[in-house]
Amino acid sequence: MKAVLFDLDGVITDTAVYHYKAWKALAAKIGIEIDEAFNEQLKGISRMDSLESILAKGSKLDAYSEEDKLALATEKNDLYKTMIQQMTPEDILPGINDLISGLKAKGMRLGLASASQNGPMILEKLGLKDTFDEIVDPAQLKAGKPDPEIFLTGAQDLGFKPEECVGIEDAAAGVDAINAAGMVSIGVGNEQTLQKATTVVPDTASLSAALVERVWRETVE
Ligand code: BG6
Ligand code: MG
Repeated sequence: MKAVLFDLDGVITDTAVYHYKAWKALAAKIGIEIDEAFNEQLKGISRMDSLESILAKGSKLDAYSEEDKLALATEKNDLYKTMIQQMTPEDILPGINDLISGLKAKGMRLGLASASQNGPMILEKLGLKDTFDEIVDPAQLKAGKPDPEIFLTGAQDLGFKPEECVGIEDAAAGVDAINAAGMVSIGVGNEQTLQKATTVVPDTASLSAALVERVWRETVE
């Protein structure tokens, strides 16, 4: 095992809840109701794909022009950015700092494989700007999760083969992307939702460098 590719929202910090709140408010404004169960489908997928999913749910896919959709997505993002303004290193989820230092102590390289265009800004707020060896730019990708492109790009940027990497995700679409990339996947959250992961832990506090390495070794070797 040479590298670990991290998802950001819901793994490193709890921004998943702010994405949900911002989408819920935007959806309500255009007469569409979304709940937490529906929100599971939005986790891990891009801003525009999330909007399309919400519009489809409300049977309003054809009600908006491309320009209108862009304006709606921008409105959601502005609301989301207001919500995350106050983030500090205190908002790093339990166990993540120890996981990062444990992996670095083992000589592992770290990559960020987040669909979020706000990723670099959030890392800055969390004081993690210099932690990652590579940060995949989601704007340069052809396909979002569950397509493996983001994880394959991360592995390639780090200079390793997919089978030398582990991916950590809180979203079903993210776990599918890691698996399709041919990497060992660790899911953080609900065992049922993330059942396709190589291993699922209930929360970030249950993650450790030793666990990640053990899961990789037991799967690959
Ligand atoms: C993912 C989140 O990390 O990033 C999704 O799980 C979000 O909920 C996606 O839609 C895109 O984020 P952003 O910040 O570019 O709108
Ligand atoms: Mg996530």
